[in-house]
Amino acid sequence: MITTKGLTKVYESRGRQVTALDGVDLHVREGEVFGVIGQSGAGKSSLIRCVNLLERPTAGTVTVDGVDLTALAGRGRRANKDLRAARTRIGMVFQHFNLLSSRTVQDNIELPLEILGVSGAERSRRALELLDLVGLGDKARAYPAQLSGGQKQRVGIARALAGNPKVLLSDEATSALDPETTRSILQLLRDLNQQLGLTVLLITHEMEVVKTICDSAALMRKGRIVESGGVTELLATPGSELARELFPVGGTASGPDRTVIDVTFHGDSATQPVISQLSRTYNVDISILGAAMDTVAGRQIGRMRIELPGRYEENVVPVGFLREQGLQVDVLDPAELAAEAAAPTGLVTSAATTAEVVGGTADGDTPPEATTAADTDAAPGPDSAPAADTETEAAPEETAGKDPAASADRSPALVKENAK
Ligand SMILES: Nc1ncnc2c1ncn2[C@@H]1O[C@H](COP(=O)(O)OP(=O)(O)OP(=O)(O)O)[C@@H](O)[C@H]1O
Ligand SMILES: [Mg+2]
Repeated sequence: MITTKGLTKVYESRGRQVTALDGVDLHVREGEVFGVIGQSGAGKSSLIRCVNLLERPTAGTVTVDGVDLTALAGRGRRANKDLRAARTRIGMVFQHFNLLSSRTVQDNIELPLEILGVSGAERSRRALELLDLVGLGDKARAYPAQLSGGQKQRVGIARALAGNPKVLLSDEATSALDPETTRSILQLLRDLNQQLGLTVLLITHEMEVVKTICDSAALMRKGRIVESGGVTELLATPGSELARELFPVGGTASGPDRTVIDVTFHGDSATQPVISQLSRTYNVDISILGAAMDTVAGRQIGRMRIELPGRYEENVVPVGFLREQGLQVDVLDPAELAAEAAAPTGLVTSAATTAEVVGGTADGDTPPEATTAADTDAAPGPDSAPAADTETEAAPEETAGKDPAASADRSPALVKENAK
């Protein structure tokens, strides 16, 4: 449904070149929820903004639902019209909602339809239908300032669905929400994915998001995709970094001459008493160093780090027994284990901290021109910020000469850049 080939984005900033995307090949299948995860600055937002051509790629191609958007982008005025038409089939959800605070909830949802030239009665019918879909049937006349963060994001999602898109792009849609609200928004995205057959590409720095709703995931680092695949397949891939982050089972050997192994349980094996069988069959004492159990993509899955007395050579048979039970077994290298204990990888945790700081700063730093008096919430919230961003999915930013979203949405990256 979404395919990028050799997608490259190089920003020119104050005479300096920044390679945000470095030949990204991405393939998102129809009807799946695909998560892209990575540390701050990895290029995640650049990727999503290149996918709907809000940001023009320096090189490479983007195909969405069989349409090569990169080809449309480069062919003058007429092509821009085609690109806009193609883009109505792509909904976009933002971290800070980007609702127009001077408009009611219903009018916010109608905005993209207005731009598409849909008649008043039809707009209204569609907006109310979408509000029901996102569980806000009674909020049509409310203003954004009267809504909670979760409700605002529901409006943002309803607006993204206005043009009947086949694809929904989401850039950190839950990062500004508390854990409980995050769960309900993720559930909504999952429901929409299933009810409407919507393909969802979401960007996140939270592993929890990937765990909760993604069918597939990719890990980005320095503008490249370093790992990708189905979540359950990744979990079954020995040495997978994403799997390790999904199930961070800490724990180091209690002394020399021990064998430490990570055992991953899938499906049926998750309910088998394999560890006690192992202990009884081979008469070994097993220590559990760490464990994590969860439901991923609707399947129960778990990981356990255990320790057996003696070196690996002495434990070849018990390890073989575990493998015979259909378990995935990774024997850990003692040197690697010691290194991991000394410096945890923190692939995601550090990104989370940075993003919070960046988000906060950006809010306080909203350029005055992005917020007009008429378009400010009573209580200045994040959504009062880049009102212009609302236009991104539907507005003809090309005709405006300059993409208002580009500058508004870019500020976090720049703030972060300056803070460095
Ligand atoms: N408009 C821009 N001009 C110059 N450099 C940019 C611009 N946008 C992004 N960058 C740079 O490109 C790199 C990737 O940024 P991007 O915003 O895509 O990262 P990200 O993975 O979304 O990070 P975060 O998790 O903090 O949102 C960073 O080094 C960033 O500073
Ligand atoms: Mg980003």
